[in-house]
Parts: sequence; C-alpha cells; structure tokens
Amino acid sequence: MGDRWYSEAVVYCLDIDTFADSDGDGVGDIQGLIGRLDYLARLGVTCLWLHPIHPSPNRDDGYDATDFYNVDPRFGTLGDFAELLHQARNRGIRVIIDLVVNHTSDEHPWFQSARSSPDSPYRDWYVWSAEEPPDRRQGMVFPGEQRETWSYDRTARAWYYHRFYRFQPDLNMANPAVRAEVKKIMSFWLQLGVSGFRMDAVPFIIELTEPGNANSPKDLDLLTEFRQHVQWRRGDAILLAEANVEPDQLPVYLGDSGGSANRLHMLFDFMLNGRLMLALARQDPEPVIEALRDTPALPVGAQWATFLRNHDEIDLSRLTAEQRNQVYAQFGPDEDMRIYDRGIRRRLAPMLGNDRRRIEMAYALQFSLRGTPVLRYGEEIGMGEDLSLPGRQAIRTPMQWSFKENAGFSTAPPDKLVRPVIDKGEYGYQTVNVTAQRRDPRSLLAWFERMIRTLREAPEIGSGSTTHIDVSMPPGVLAHRADGPTGTMVFLHNLGTEDVEVDLSLLQPEADQPIDVLSDRGYGDVGKLERLQLAGYGYRWIRLRRGC
Ligand code: GLC
Repeated sequence: MGDRWYSEAVVYCLDIDTFADSDGDGVGDIQGLIGRLDYLARLGVTCLWLHPIHPSPNRDDGYDATDFYNVDPRFGTLGDFAELLHQARNRGIRVIIDLVVNHTSDEHPWFQSARSSPDSPYRDWYVWSAEEPPDRRQGMVFPGEQRETWSYDRTARAWYYHRFYRFQPDLNMANPAVRAEVKKIMSFWLQLGVSGFRMDAVPFIIELTEPGNANSPKDLDLLTEFRQHVQWRRGDAILLAEANVEPDQLPVYLGDSGGSANRLHMLFDFMLNGRLMLALARQDPEPVIEALRDTPALPVGAQWATFLRNHDEIDLSRLTAEQRNQVYAQFGPDEDMRIYDRGIRRRLAPMLGNDRRRIEMAYALQFSLRGTPVLRYGEEIGMGEDLSLPGRQAIRTPMQWSFKENAGFSTAPPDKLVRPVIDKGEYGYQTVNVTAQRRDPRSLLAWFERMIRTLREAPEIGSGSTTHIDVSMPPGVLAHRADGPTGTMVFLHNLGTEDVEVDLSLLQPEADQPIDVLSDRGYGDVGKLERLQLAGYGYRWIRLRRGC
C-alpha cells in the first residue's frame, strides 16, 4: 500500500445535473447524488470528481461561474453539499471539484463591475486592451464555435481577453488581488471538506497575457504558490490539472524541488489518451509502447491520471494528420462525430462497435497502465452518445439507471429534462441501464466491479513503476509489467482480433506461484509462462509474485 491516497485511487467523474434528480424538476441534484453513493461505493470508486458545481448561466455546462462560493441552486444548497461530503466520507469516497478560475462568466458580478467603469475596483481583475490587439483572431480553443480571443465590449469601451468563449472573460492572474481571491476560493472548499481540485485550463491560468503577443510568458511560480497554499490548508489535498501541452513541457507543471513535485500533484495524460486511441484504431500496441517510453519520468509524489473518455471531445491534436485520420476512419467516420478539427464527440462503447470483448480489453488496458484511472459516468454500463445534440453535449446525456421513464434519472416530464435521455436503439435506456446490469454477473457493470476490485489488490499499478516487456510478441499484443514493494504484476492485452499464443518464459525466474487474477475467460494454469493463450481482444492480468 502506497503512502498517498491519490496514487491508488479510482476517480469517477460526473455532472451533478445529469446524474440523478431527487426532486423531479428535471435537473440532477446533490440529494440525488447522495442517493447513489452506495452504487458508487459498490463499483469501487474512491474519489469523485464533480464538474463545476457553482451558480452559472450554463452556457458552457458550468465552466462559466457567476459565484465561486456557492453551489448552483438547481443542485441544492451548500448545506446539501456539506452533507454529500459527509456521506461520501462515510463510504470512504473523497470528493474533488472543478476549479475553473482561468475565467468567469461575463455575468459574474466582478465582470459586470469591471466593464462598467475604468475606476471599478474589479477593472484590473480582467485583461483589457484599449486598442484592437493584432492577434485577436489567434489562439482559439473552440474553432468553429469561437471566432476570436479578444472581443470589444461596448460598455467598457475596451477589448477584453477570453481564451475560451466570448462569454468567458479571462481573469488577470498578474493581479495580486486575483491570486489572493483564488486562494480564498480554494480555502473555502477545503474547509468544507473537499480533497482537492481538478484545475481547469492550467496553461492559460498561468499565462501573463500581453495584447499582440500570441506567446505570452507563463508564470509557473504561481503553481508553486497555489500548491503551498493548498497543502498548508489541508495536508492531503491534491491538485489534478488539465494541462494539454507537449510532453516535454509537462515536468515544469509538476515542479521539482530536490526530486519532489512541488507544483501540481497530478496531470491528465492527454498524450497517452491520443496514443491509446491510435493503438485501438490500428489494433497495434506500438503507440502505447511509445507513450510509455517517451513520457517524462515523474518526480516523487507526482502522478498521472489516465482516461479513455472525459466530458470533452477526444482530443487528437497531438497526433499527426495521418494518425488522426486513422483514428477518425475507425471511430469517427461521419463528419458529425467530429468536432473542433481535432476530436471526436462520442462515447467509447459505440466507438468500439459495442463489442463487449473490445470494451473490456480497452478498459482493462487503461486501468493497468501507470497512473490513477479516471472513469466517466455511464461508461461502466456502456452508454452511447446522442449526436443530435450540439457539440460536446452529445456525450453529456443523463445517467441511465433503470427501465423506468427517463431512465429512472428523473420523474419530470421528458420535455423538462436538462438534456434528453437516450431512448432509442442499441444504447437506449430500455437496453442499457444500471438495473438491468446490477444483478447480472455477466454484465459490463459487474465486470467493472470485478476489475476495480482486482486493481485494489494490485497497488503496483498506481504506486509502482510500469514498463513495457520488450520481447517478441504476436502482432496486436502488448505486454507490460508493474513493479513495486508489493510485488510484480504482468499484463497481456490483445488489441487485435486473432487468437494468439505468447511466450513470457523469460519471466519464469522471477515468478512465484504466478496466477491469472483477471482475464477475459478461463485460460487455465499459467504454467511456466511459455505458452500463454490469448484470445482476440483478450487480456490477462497475471500476478507474477507477491512482495512483502
Ligand atoms: C476545459 C474544460 C471544458 C471547458 C473549458 C473552458 O477545457 O474541460 O469542458 O469548456 O475548460 O472552461
């Protein structure tokens, strides 16, 4: 057992508004989530990551806050939130929340005040330019939905900067008052009992924007400052960051003070995500092997967060155009499955043709790779997407709980729901729901429970070191291992469709009563590891030996 909870956590992310509605108004709420904590505990989740919970006009699904010190009244009250933290803790589940402080909503009182007058105490909380910045049409995050990064505000009679949508003005982090406010926001939620934050848009938070400079300098020390603050207020709290930058830029986000990370604790592994998609598309593990080889070594205390799907598009921008096209051809063949010229707005099950073997193999692979796995709600039952919804909303449909109307998500009339439930076809709630899978030992949900239980007994994955086993393998097969003080795990995953036989006898000298602890079928005894059978899309997690 490692020393740090986040290294061996299973993180589950959800939006309160699409998870469970307790009062029948059509919008999920905190009480609804509390009612489902037992479900999450049984699944084996140890940490919830809640997408933005603050009051918001919801033009970017809550990533546009109007008050950082409250919860969206549609979700309940701060009292409900405190109750959620208590009930989650009773079940051994921690809660982290999205911290979206790169920007606010343009309806935030700070921005309303700032635009109203140059003398407003909040004027300098945002980033202004009196002249039209020459780079105003550069650096958009949402091409197709966003035309510029500087917009003119007639009330303010000035241009304001917004890295994201125009209704999300960037806060001015160079202003000490803003930095102090961010620390106060963090303190507030830590005091209530959250275990940390998923920090949104970190490369842009630390950007010291200068009009006309598309490559404005970055203030990395700000991250050191935030880290110190968080750690002093709550020793075991973490910062899990969204920083989708080139891999060679990542180490500075973690920081290194005498070998220990002193900035962010965790980073989402976007590079691995893109490579996993490429590997699945090609049925060839090479991109994952490259990812394992190329990712920078982490300083002590730093950790990767792995994922297959999150609430955004699958971002393929770090692949070459040719690689991206290979992924598109397999997983996003239709134009409306793609978004922002770089990604795919689909869930995993439909991308993999709802092939149960392949879905299991993909998730077994993610959960066996170094780092802390993050799972998006609904993936554990194989939910689909609704491409008739705009943009990223396609993958943000309500959780499918049961056969009841609205999938048991809400008792409101269907036209009052925050978003329509998927009610047709292969992924309709009549087919894909928790109730149907809960008591079926062969269901995908039951498989996830078993897989996560197995992970609990393999702390080497989260806390140990992971390496590719570099021996000749049949095409399509990835062999890797995780080593730690608790022992060694060996993993085989077949990304291809052919049944194969694998020889891992070179590991025999290290083996001590090796045994399959998770596999797609009963393969029998592992013997001397020299004739390991592996079905198409099959996988075997083998405990090679136990340590102390
Ligand atoms: C992050 C979030 C995304 C949001 C954006 C703006 O990228 O993941 O959902 O739209 O930040 O806050």
